[in-house]
Amino acid sequence: KSLNKLIDKLACTHALSKEEWVQLIQGRDSEVSEYLFSLARRTREKYYGDDVYIRGLIEFTNYCKNDCLYCGIRRSNTHVNRYRLTKEEILSCCYAGYELGFRTFVLQGGEDGYYTDPVLEDIVKSIHTSFPDCAITLSVGERSFESYQRLFDAGANRYLLRHETYNASHYARLHPPSLSAAHRQQCLWNLKKIGYQAGTGFMVGSPYQTPENLAEDMLFLKELNPHMVGIGPFIPHHDTPFSGERAGTLDLTLFLLALIRLLLPKVLLPATTALGTIAPDGREQGILAGANVVMPNLSPGNVRKDYALYDNKICTGAEAAECIKDLEQRIHSVGCHIAVTRGDSLNTAEET
Ligand code: 5AD
Repeated sequence: KSLNKLIDKLACTHALSKEEWVQLIQGRDSEVSEYLFSLARRTREKYYGDDVYIRGLIEFTNYCKNDCLYCGIRRSNTHVNRYRLTKEEILSCCYAGYELGFRTFVLQGGEDGYYTDPVLEDIVKSIHTSFPDCAITLSVGERSFESYQRLFDAGANRYLLRHETYNASHYARLHPPSLSAAHRQQCLWNLKKIGYQAGTGFMVGSPYQTPENLAEDMLFLKELNPHMVGIGPFIPHHDTPFSGERAGTLDLTLFLLALIRLLLPKVLLPATTALGTIAPDGREQGILAGANVVMPNLSPGNVRKDYALYDNKICTGAEAAECIKDLEQRIHSVGCHIAVTRGDSLNTAEET
């Protein structure tokens, strides 16, 4: 079949043209998907064996100055119970996580003006001093080059900033006029230049997204060559302008995960919370499609429900860091195991 040929080409050359990406994304069926998943799994095993890396996700603020149309913690949502964690609270999450085997902490939050450079530097330095063998990942949105540099110098090693969608007009339909695709992408180049292990990504099935948009996302991933790529289905939130929109599908998300594994063989690829939210075994299926990272929730129990980016976001069971045994068992069921290590990306060469 001609689509299998395209998949073989991708597996060999790690690149496709825009037209070829569109063909694959539009023409996919379950047979093509199974073939793709088997190649993606083999590629994951080649570089990462049966290791799955875990990251402890600390959602430390749900204040946000932005008003993204899809996001539950957007500024204009007055129904959110807003919270901020103190440095001490964040550190105690890290202690709990360290005991459980986490060696990477991801500090994620809305774009909250309270966390100025000095405030955030102080938090990063404290974590760095207390846990010198751990990686610190920040996911706090768009900041200046100087700010990224200061946080890097304070001890942050990695940064997650999804590009959300490459296409400027699609980007404009998902975001307020204060934000632009170009600035978002510039931030990613800045992060890479400073020396962060950078993660980007996008939502699958976001409103107005076309196969051409997804093809452009794939071309951008190739160009940026990030260390990590986080993708998950768009899921509507009831208090946003997109409350009535359809969610992205499991099938398309798995298909794209596997394509990304073949495009960037050594990339770190999380089976995201959103994937685990749209299907009870979503993350296991993600691993079977080439994913090799999971990011359990390490936030204090009493704030988890308040970090609702979308409806029904899971934060219990295998999603909760304290239930790591449950997670280990699920990962085992798909032939993998949790690795107690920082789990740095192998995708470090500038030229691949
Ligand atoms: N559905 C799925 N993902 C979402 N995100 C934000 N809102 C939603 C939603 N409604 C994702 C964005 C952001 C990441 C932290 O969460 O891609 O970058």
